[in-house]
Amino acid sequence: MEISAVILAAGQGTRMHSSTPKVLHQILGKPLVWYSLEAARQAAGRRPVVIIGHGAEQVREALGDTAEFVLQEEQLGTGHAVLQAEALLKGKSDLILVTYGDMPAMTVTTLQRMIQVQASHNGPMTMLTVIVDDPRGFGRVIRDGQGEIRAIVEEAQATPEQMKIKELNAGVYCFMADWLWKALRRIPLSPKGEYYLTDLVGLAVADGVSIRAVQVADQAEMIGINTRIHLAEATAIIRNRINQEWMQAGVTMIEPAMTYIEPGVEIGQDTIIWPNTYLYGKTQIGEGCELGPNTIIRDTTIGDRCTVLASVLEGARLDEDVEVGPFGRLRKGSHLAQGVHMGNFGEVKNSYLGSGTKMGHFSYIGDATIEEDVNIGAGTVTCNFDGEHKNPTKIGKGAFIGSDTMLVAPVSVGEGGRTGAGAVVTHDVPPDTLVVGVPARAIRKIEKK
Ligand code: UD1
Ligand code: CA
Repeated sequence: MEISAVILAAGQGTRMHSSTPKVLHQILGKPLVWYSLEAARQAAGRRPVVIIGHGAEQVREALGDTAEFVLQEEQLGTGHAVLQAEALLKGKSDLILVTYGDMPAMTVTTLQRMIQVQASHNGPMTMLTVIVDDPRGFGRVIRDGQGEIRAIVEEAQATPEQMKIKELNAGVYCFMADWLWKALRRIPLSPKGEYYLTDLVGLAVADGVSIRAVQVADQAEMIGINTRIHLAEATAIIRNRINQEWMQAGVTMIEPAMTYIEPGVEIGQDTIIWPNTYLYGKTQIGEGCELGPNTIIRDTTIGDRCTVLASVLEGARLDEDVEVGPFGRLRKGSHLAQGVHMGNFGEVKNSYLGSGTKMGHFSYIGDATIEEDVNIGAGTVTCNFDGEHKNPTKIGKGAFIGSDTMLVAPVSVGEGGRTGAGAVVTHDVPPDTLVVGVPARAIRKIEKK
């Protein structure tokens, strides 16, 4: 059975009061329509069709090739929006799953249930309903004395009696494709001047065919974003869901409500996350790590048993058993090999620190390659920028850089080399040699132990 998903995302989102199209407002680093798209893609097993209108180019650009796009030039209602997909899908699908792009909490499981129910009866449509006290402006589900669904009435058209109905249209449908394309053309114009998709229910009833309804298990799923308050609510729901998945998988969170993990992040078991920790983008965390409190990690890969305390890491890589912080800053291209210790107030950019290397206190290392077991004294600075170019620094295995050394790049320190406190190193330091002073001069060879 061929299934296609259509996601409606052409509306303006007036109540967001924003110059950004509604569906591009972000939830955990992704545009909110991304969530609908991901769920629909998994349920249907192929790329969904997204109906775009307001901010069409921006939406197209944000979603790239994860979707197919159809432009709804004028927003004449949800029924009209679905009809725009006909040319692309007619004759190619047996079932059409329709969702709205402003309902990011809808789960794949619910969409799959909708598809299963529609595939197992011979009526033309299955719809999703929810029973809640707060109607939030949703369409009301009208049932007859036998409990059969008769119609959906939009709030704008509802009578005071209908307004009291607690069963609402959640806004997900699965249709028999052949019936859908014909029925869409029969939708009457509403008093508001729109073609409501929800009028298909009344049309099906008039045709004497039966409609199935699935009730959504968790009300949180059907949250629709119309305002920024809804956006914050949905963010909390999705964040909580992601955190729970990680806790189920063996990650400890000291305070989940203060832990922010974006979709796509990976975390190994027995890792402990302290509050106010943010894991962004393509971040991978190994097993048995301890992160935070007060830590931001973006697009970074971290090996097993690392600790990162009150630090900011971006585009970095840590091998196993690395310690960072408190107050460490790793920028793009930093690679700390196994067992590196980077203590208070250090900054590393585009540099490799070999295994066992220690940099305990307030140093800046940029564009440097440092071999294993090097000691970087407090306040060491690689002076990598000469006003025009970024220059490299190289430090050999087992070198000892004295406190407050300035390494004026391009420069290198040979294996086992040493610099005295306050040295300003402007020339390469030979292996096993001690240099001191400003500018630094070699004063003696160091005897090997
Ligand atoms: C809709 C339903 C309502 C349901 C609620 C659930 C209709 C008529 N009403 O109301 O029964 O309870 O969702 O959230 O369907 N859109 C287009 N093109 C258009 C109009 C809308 O693409 O011409 C898109 C919007 O961008 C949005 C979605 O369709 O993503 C729903 O439209 P919206 O105006 O938010 O409908 P609701 O009033 O929430
Ligand atoms: Ca809506």
